[in-house]
Amino acid sequence: MSFEGKVAVITGGARGIGRAIATELAAGGAKLALVDVLLDVAETTAAEFRAQGVDAAAFAANVANPEDVNRMCDEVIAHFGQMDILVNNAGITRDNLIMRMKESDWDAVIAVNLKGTFNCIKAATRPMMKARFGRIVNIASVVGVMGNAGQANYSASKAGVIGLTKTAAKELASRNITVNAVAPGYIQTEMTEKVSDAAREAFLTNIPLARAGQPEDVARAVKFLCSDDAAYITGQVLHVDGGMVM
Ligand code: NAI
Repeated sequence: MSFEGKVAVITGGARGIGRAIATELAAGGAKLALVDVLLDVAETTAAEFRAQGVDAAAFAANVANPEDVNRMCDEVIAHFGQMDILVNNAGITRDNLIMRMKESDWDAVIAVNLKGTFNCIKAATRPMMKARFGRIVNIASVVGVMGNAGQANYSASKAGVIGLTKTAAKELASRNITVNAVAPGYIQTEMTEKVSDAAREAFLTNIPLARAGQPEDVARAVKFLCSDDAAYITGQVLHVDGGMVM
């Protein structure tokens, strides 16, 4: 799969799944714009890519903030001249049962995971429409489809991402811009390190392939959806969860 000459913007690209996605796309020749609220971590990651000969740069943005996102897009265009691929991967959790969930935790998760994805799609639409080419992949979650006790905010945000994906796909298809979602299951990253041993065991018993996923498992699916091989696929949700949802 070749991404030669393409610029990929990856939110939450500093670490975890975002970094693995960046690695896969760079292996195909993509230039990388790593967008993160943790600028120092994103700078370090970008420097590591550059040391391997990849054209990579870090950009600071809180995706929940539309002004930040618009400024970031302007900076990416000024730096690279174009924006061909957008992977909306930035995400957070603030877990609790509904009766104990603080309003601020509900708002924060919806703001980053759902509104952040909307903000980035909206900002990327103009350059992609002008170029009459674009690949957008949104990272949803298995819990956006199945639900999960203790994750009302997170599961609602990810279900919202799936609806947003389908609407954006319909709005942008005539401009040769595809929009798909990848719904990971239980993937080993810093995000899931916080999960208790009991919850981890419960997850594992529900995975037919009987193992946690790795960031690379998700990254390879994203790479496919960004490639020419997926040119006729839009509005879809690709589950990368060891068989949890079927
Ligand atoms: P992570 O916590 O390791 O990485 C997330 C990255 O997003 C971090 O670099 C963080 O600084 C950045 N970020 C957070 N808030 C941001 C904001 N407001 N603006 C810009 N950047 C921000 O998480 P992980 O596990 O790599 O998750 C990546 C995506 O995959 C998230 O959307 C997550 O919801 C999703 N996912 C993860 C699963 C897992 O099991 N790890 C399962 C299903 C979905």
